[in-house]
Amino acid sequence: MWLFHRGAVLLATALFSSGLIAEETMTVELTFTPDLNNGRNVYETCASCHLPEGWGSSDGAYPQIAGQHQQVLLKQLLDIRDGHRENSIMYPFVQERTIGGYQSLVDVVTYITRMPMHPRHKQGPFSDFSDEYKQGEQLYQKHCASCHGAEGGGNDKTRTPKLYGQHYPYVLRQIDLIRKELRSVDPVMKGGVDQLSPEELMMIVNYVSWIEVPEGEKAPSANWRNTDFY
Ligand code: HEC
Ligand code: HEC
Repeated sequence: MWLFHRGAVLLATALFSSGLIAEETMTVELTFTPDLNNGRNVYETCASCHLPEGWGSSDGAYPQIAGQHQQVLLKQLLDIRDGHRENSIMYPFVQERTIGGYQSLVDVVTYITRMPMHPRHKQGPFSDFSDEYKQGEQLYQKHCASCHGAEGGGNDKTRTPKLYGQHYPYVLRQIDLIRKELRSVDPVMKGGVDQLSPEELMMIVNYVSWIEVPEGEKAPSANWRNTDFY
């Protein structure tokens, strides 16, 4: 194994207790100690689509998942598994009968969060010196940075995804789904997206794709391979 981990992961899961009068939502926090060997074994199922490196595809059909925040991955997987997030391609592969219960989810997200990111993900068409890039930067700082961070690093605790490093066409597609209400997200974020035109959103997504992935989070080269699988 090329990665090591000690420590516990919190998983907050919403349960619904139907009382006599009203339905109450209650959050239960469960603590797990990740098992990276099992994480690797579960990841074998994912690797057929997301590749052994977790880098996805530059046409955006498959997202890069390597290096995403642990709590973000956990939420995404639970949402897909429970049908709160539409993903029919992946749906059968995240069910309990396929990969196991909460412990396995914690194992696989811990494995994925530690994978180095693609050093050359697909970027948008407008590089640093263009007007589109500069406008995208301003709009990003105004409408997105408060949650996703000035550098696009997201936030593990608030389950806000890291945006840098993601393939440009994938983010563009996600934003389009969010705009058309085909994918639910934080209502504040939705409100912000609704204020922007498709062109402005495109410039934001272009800008985000040009944010540098921090050195320590990238694989040494595009030829790097995950030796757990070769
Ligand atoms: C049959 C192919 C397939 C398999 C197997 C698969 N996925 Fe996916 N996954 C996808 C596709 C396609 C998407 C993007 C769907 C979309 O466009 O919204 C996706 C999206 C995701 C996302 C959301 C990423 C983001 O930032 O939006 C995560 C996380 C993820 N997959 C993790 C996993 C894990 C973990 C496994 C294994 C347990 C797995 N996937 C197995 C095809 C697959
Ligand atoms: C109020 C906080 C907030 C603001 C402002 C915000 N976001 Fe988000 N964003 C989130 C959260 C939280 C999620 C995770 C949603 C989920 O999976 O339930 C998210 C998800 C996303 C995703 C989806 C990633 C994926 O594949 O799951 C993209 C892309 C994104 N945001 C881009 C943006 C852009 C671009 C802006 C500015 C126009 C923006 N966000 C503004 C909080 C915010």
